[in-house]
Amino acid sequence: MKTVKKILNRLFNNLSKEEKSILQALKKRPQAPYDFLTRYENILKNAIKWDDLDFNNKTVMELGCGPHLGFGPLAIYLGAKKFIAVDPTANRKIYDSKILLDKYFRLAFKDYKGIFRKQISFGDFFQELKNKTIFYNDTKSIPKDLYSSIDIQLSNSCLEHIQDLENVLIDLKKLMAPNGRYIHAIDFGNHMQTNNPFIEIYNSTPSKFKIKHGSKINLIPPSKMLNLFTKTGFNSPSLVPYYYFEENFELNIDKYWSNYLEESDYFLKVGIIAE
Ligand SMILES: C[S@@+](CC[C@H](N)C(=O)[O-])C[C@H]1O[C@@H](n2cnc3c(N)ncnc32)[C@H](O)[C@@H]1O
Repeated sequence: MKTVKKILNRLFNNLSKEEKSILQALKKRPQAPYDFLTRYENILKNAIKWDDLDFNNKTVMELGCGPHLGFGPLAIYLGAKKFIAVDPTANRKIYDSKILLDKYFRLAFKDYKGIFRKQISFGDFFQELKNKTIFYNDTKSIPKDLYSSIDIQLSNSCLEHIQDLENVLIDLKKLMAPNGRYIHAIDFGNHMQTNNPFIEIYNSTPSKFKIKHGSKINLIPPSKMLNLFTKTGFNSPSLVPYYYFEENFELNIDKYWSNYLEESDYFLKVGIIAE
């Protein structure tokens, strides 16, 4: 048994950093992007007037898609004409990985095929994905000729990690097509394994949090994030709460937050900003 474990460990250690990240972070669940997207669209449909996104012939962009390309493969399967992957960890090298082809992309394809039943082979789908994905490290590297061209902009647990969010939103707005639509899901919690996700946030201040835990998250609360969307020119963004997490918070809330938060901000763990 020990020997088997050793061999498996050795195999895992030989993987590239993209392969490790994709196979580990998603816990081998290539269905995760579909699950996220349908969950967000159902939440939006039940909360505001929301028509499902139609990817057919659309230019789709995901900010912070991660090395596995997030919603990209699904968008391409559903007919997107281009997928703009914007993330410093996303990298065309993944297309050369046999292990990711078999253990990620092929399984994602099987899932899409089961759900949407399009008559396309895996080989053709994978070729399309390769041909139609364009990689950028960040919004600043995206050329101006893509301005006003993005029909669908997406992000999942990314905006809360960006320190200069206002400038990035200015770029996102420039990239949007006139009738473009977007879904940005934001995790407002502390990104730590605590009993309540606001421990170390509400009982502290952003500067103390940064000293202790670094700048992994920007600590912009929900209402302020929504204001940034409006300030940077997004027409009528809605902020839809997914769920609140108040349980197990028994600390005093620092004055910084009680002066700063709106009533609806408190304990909102995940919110969706969409139009
Ligand atoms: C928590 S991960 C989420 C990854 C993926 N969306 C998912 O749901 O699995 C946040 C991602 O945002 C990316 N990211 C952080 N800052 C970014 C920026 N300024 N521009 C683009 N991507 C960024 C990180 O590299 C990382 O892949």
